[in-house]
Amino acid sequence: MRLAVNIDHIATLRNARNEYDPDPAEAALLAEKSGAAGIVCHLREDRRHIRDLDLQRLRQVVTTKLDLEMAMTEEMQAIALRTKPELVTLVPENREELTTEGGFNITRHFNALTEYIKPFRDASIAVSIFIEPDERAIELAGKAGADIVELHTGIYSLKETDQEREKELKKIRHAARFARSLNLEVVAGHGLNYKNSAPFAAIEEIEEVSIGHAIIARAAFTGLESAIREMIKLLGGEG
Ligand code: PXP
Repeated sequence: MRLAVNIDHIATLRNARNEYDPDPAEAALLAEKSGAAGIVCHLREDRRHIRDLDLQRLRQVVTTKLDLEMAMTEEMQAIALRTKPELVTLVPENREELTTEGGFNITRHFNALTEYIKPFRDASIAVSIFIEPDERAIELAGKAGADIVELHTGIYSLKETDQEREKELKKIRHAARFARSLNLEVVAGHGLNYKNSAPFAAIEEIEEVSIGHAIIARAAFTGLESAIREMIKLLGGEG
């Protein structure tokens, strides 16, 4: 199980003062040194955390894998093709949301999606789609030409009892198996933290989890390196 670290909230903190610290590119370097298998950032339409210059600098320093989360817009497509991250993740984006809410509505966007994905394939940039753990959505992602599906774990992460969590995990396990049967790579993320991530270590079909908020929040107390190593251990790694 690999850990990709989302560093958006390093930029949120930097933007609180609108100056230079803490620097997302420096965080990316430290995250890689601490064992992160990839760096994730979300360039939002309103640039509320990561900004264009951050993305350019991240591209210069990241040596593992840069995953650009983005809305399916022409502007973002042009930026991504210019920046050449290893991977883009298509996410729904609503202006007023605090964080990404729910998976990408693949049924609604299916016709446009195939065309949208083509230039990424031509540029050898892998495409991931953030979707609900649902067979139909997974099938459409594969048909549209995605390489990877990121299963949305937000509903799982909000459940309060073991029984409810197990029910959601069952759906996620089933979806992961189904996606693998279609030859899609499977990753998962959203709302995962130090209390709810461990069961993912046992889901063989899920190769990576993408975690941001919980790691950056813990880093405020223990430092980024320690926060990342602790999460890697929880996921069954050496830490
Ligand atoms: N995956 C996707 C697609 C996301 O949009 C986010 C939030 O930016 C994450 C993973 C990470 O979520 P969290 O910050 O809750 O760990």
